[in-house]
Amino acid sequence: MQAVILVGGEGTRLRPLTSGTPKPIVTFVDRPFMGFMLEWLAGHGVEDVIMSCGFLAPKVEAVLGDGSHFGVRLRFVEEPEPRGTAGALKYAEELLEDRFLMLNGDVLTDIDVGAQIAQHQRTGATGTLGLVPVADPSAYGLVLTHEDGEVTGFLEKPAADQLEGIDEYLISAGIYVLERSVLDRIEPGVNVSIETQVWPGLVGEGLYGCAARGAYWMDIGTPDRYLQGTADILLGNVRTAVGERLDREHQFLASGTVAEGARITGAVLVEEGAAVAAGARVVGPTVLGRGVTVADGAVVERSVVLDGSSIATGAHVADAILAPRVAVGERTIVQGRAVLGEGVDVGADCKLDHGIKVFPGTKLGGGAVRF
Ligand code: GDD
Ligand code: MG
Repeated sequence: MQAVILVGGEGTRLRPLTSGTPKPIVTFVDRPFMGFMLEWLAGHGVEDVIMSCGFLAPKVEAVLGDGSHFGVRLRFVEEPEPRGTAGALKYAEELLEDRFLMLNGDVLTDIDVGAQIAQHQRTGATGTLGLVPVADPSAYGLVLTHEDGEVTGFLEKPAADQLEGIDEYLISAGIYVLERSVLDRIEPGVNVSIETQVWPGLVGEGLYGCAARGAYWMDIGTPDRYLQGTADILLGNVRTAVGERLDREHQFLASGTVAEGARITGAVLVEEGAAVAAGARVVGPTVLGRGVTVADGAVVERSVVLDGSSIATGAHVADAILAPRVAVGERTIVQGRAVLGEGVDVGADCKLDHGIKVFPGTKLGGGAVRF
């Protein structure tokens, strides 16, 4: 089976993590985010993946390579300018087979896509949308179906007044099985949205939905969901290859990284070369990347601290994301969904809170910010 993955957005909501790094290769737990999607697809028999890139494609390619590390053959196409979700698919046309999967590139899931392909075949559909139930469909594509799965309506980012009388909100998971004939509905060379310009026209013409209830699914595009997705991977709420690295306590502590007297509780992954001092405390779900140092008396809770960052004595990091090579000064508090970009240097006695985003390379002197 073949798959096309769209990686075109600028990932604005995940800035500053995505300021210089495209969303698909932002580190997620212990690997580039796209690694999770590729490993999941490989596990369902996908061998050939085409990545349709609109933004920083060479960087993505440099990290993911030919895909062999993740069990697939990976090729890249790069649009000359953003073509929208359908335009990006059209741009990959020459490489596509008669039937293929199309995926949004920001989905963490363990959905059984094999079942979706089987339904597609059974119904003779032109397109089959993977569907998942959510409580609030306003940020997604809401899909209405008959009992047999045939789609009767598609509402992208529905307004509140469009929701009346619907008892279960099934949204498009950004996972589609498509026949090649769908490409004939997309004008070449221009920006076309699959959600607003292709699906509505396919309603009644072989568009089906396949609901995956009980599977894990999340669009990882915001700091909140980045942290939630990280926690879910560590806790095993979503089945991923990271699970194989964790023990029964959902921990992996690389050897020699945790000093005697340090307290580690909950789902915690500590990579090679990190150093957690005696008298430091780490509370899961937390990731400490390669070479991260946590000094005596410092606390890290429910956070992601990426490669090469350092947390000084008495500092407190909670519910925060620290990009690679961030320095947090003595007694500084970083909490409340704060996101610090690559190389940010925060001096002593600062407080960063309330979802503050600090852009890469910023230096904040001792006591300079209490937010
Ligand atoms: N190559 C390319 N070019 N890719 C693009 C472009 C483009 O011009 N525009 C968007 N993409 C990619 C994004 O990188 C992402 O992987 C995917 O297309 C979807 O775009 P998002 O910006 O993440 O859309 P969304 O999350 O608001 O909504 C979409 O996903 C929901 C599920 O997460 C829609 O498909 C909804 O219908 C769906 O429910
Ligand atoms: Mg998205």
